[in-house]
Amino acid sequence: MDRLKDRVVIITGAGAGLGKGYAIAMAKEGAAIVVNDFVADLANGVVDEIKAMNGKAVACIGGVGTKETADNLVATAVKEFGTVHVLINNAGITRDNLLVRMTEQQWDDIMTVHLRGTFLNTQAVVKNIIDNKVAKGRIINITSPAGLYGNIGQANYSTAKAGIIGLTKSNSRELARYGICVNAIAPAAKTAMTEAIPEKPRQMLYDKFARESTIQKMGEPEDVSPVLVFLASEESQYITGQIIAVAGSIGIM
Ligand SMILES: NC(=O)c1ccc[n+]([C@@H]2O[C@H](COP(=O)([O-])OP(=O)(O)OC[C@H]3O[C@@H](n4cnc5c(N)ncnc54)[C@H](O)[C@@H]3O)[C@@H](O)[C@H]2O)c1
Repeated sequence: MDRLKDRVVIITGAGAGLGKGYAIAMAKEGAAIVVNDFVADLANGVVDEIKAMNGKAVACIGGVGTKETADNLVATAVKEFGTVHVLINNAGITRDNLLVRMTEQQWDDIMTVHLRGTFLNTQAVVKNIIDNKVAKGRIINITSPAGLYGNIGQANYSTAKAGIIGLTKSNSRELARYGICVNAIAPAAKTAMTEAIPEKPRQMLYDKFARESTIQKMGEPEDVSPVLVFLASEESQYITGQIIAVAGSIGIM
C-alpha cells in the first residue's frame, strides 16, 4: 500500500478513463496526486474520490497544450505538496477522419494536445526537478497501438503517438544524468475514447481484442494501472527509454 509513499505525481487528463484509473491506483499506494483535466467537474470528482479514501489530491484545471497549463501543473504540485517527482502525460483526444477528408483543424488539434502538450509539460516538470535536485524523477508518456502500427482514419493521431515515442527515447537519453527515467506505455482499454468510436468499428475492435489478442480480452483501466504504479515508483530505476504495450499483446493490429 506504500509503494508511492511521499511521491508527488501530476496526471494530465485524469478526470476520466485511464487517467482516473492511474490517479486512484497511485493514491492507494500513498502518492499525492495533481489531478488535471479541462473539465473541472471531472477533475474535482476524482479529487473528492481520493480524499474520501483518505488519499491526497488537488485539482488543476486547464487544457494541456499551452505553456500556461504546464507552468500551472508544476506550481500547483509545489504549492500543495512541496515538490514533483512524476509526470504522466495522459491527456488525449481523437479527431478521426480518412486522410483525404482530414481538415487542418483536426490535424492541428491532435498535434497540440498530444505532442505540444507532452513537450511543454515535460519541459516544465524537468526544469523543476533539475533546479531542485529532486531524486528519482519519472516521466511516463502515453502512446498507442496506433502509434506503433498506424490505423485507418487516424493519420493525425498515429503520427502524434509515434512522435511521442521519439520524444520518449530522446528525453530518456538526455535526462538519465539527472536520475530521471522516461518511458511510455501503449495501452488498450474500454473508456469514453473507445466508446466514442462508431458502433460497427468499435465492435470490430473489441471483438478483435477478445478473439485475436494473446490474452483474448479488451482491457479495463484497472488492467493498465499496475504498470503505471511500477513506472512511477522508485523501483523502476533501471528502466528507461522503453515503450511497454499494456494491451494483452497487440501484435494483432
Ligand atoms: N482507451 C484506449 O484504449 C487507449 C489506447 C491507446 C492510447 N490511449 C491514450 O490514453 C490516454 C487516455 O485515454 P482515455 O481512453 O482514458 O480517454 P478518455 O477520453 O476516456 O479520457 C481522457 C480525459 O482527458 C481529458 N482531456 C482531453 N483533452 C484534454 C486536454 N487538452 N487537457 C486536459 N484534459 C484533457 C478529458 O476531459 C478526459 O477526462 C490518451 O492519451 C489516449 O490517446 C487510450
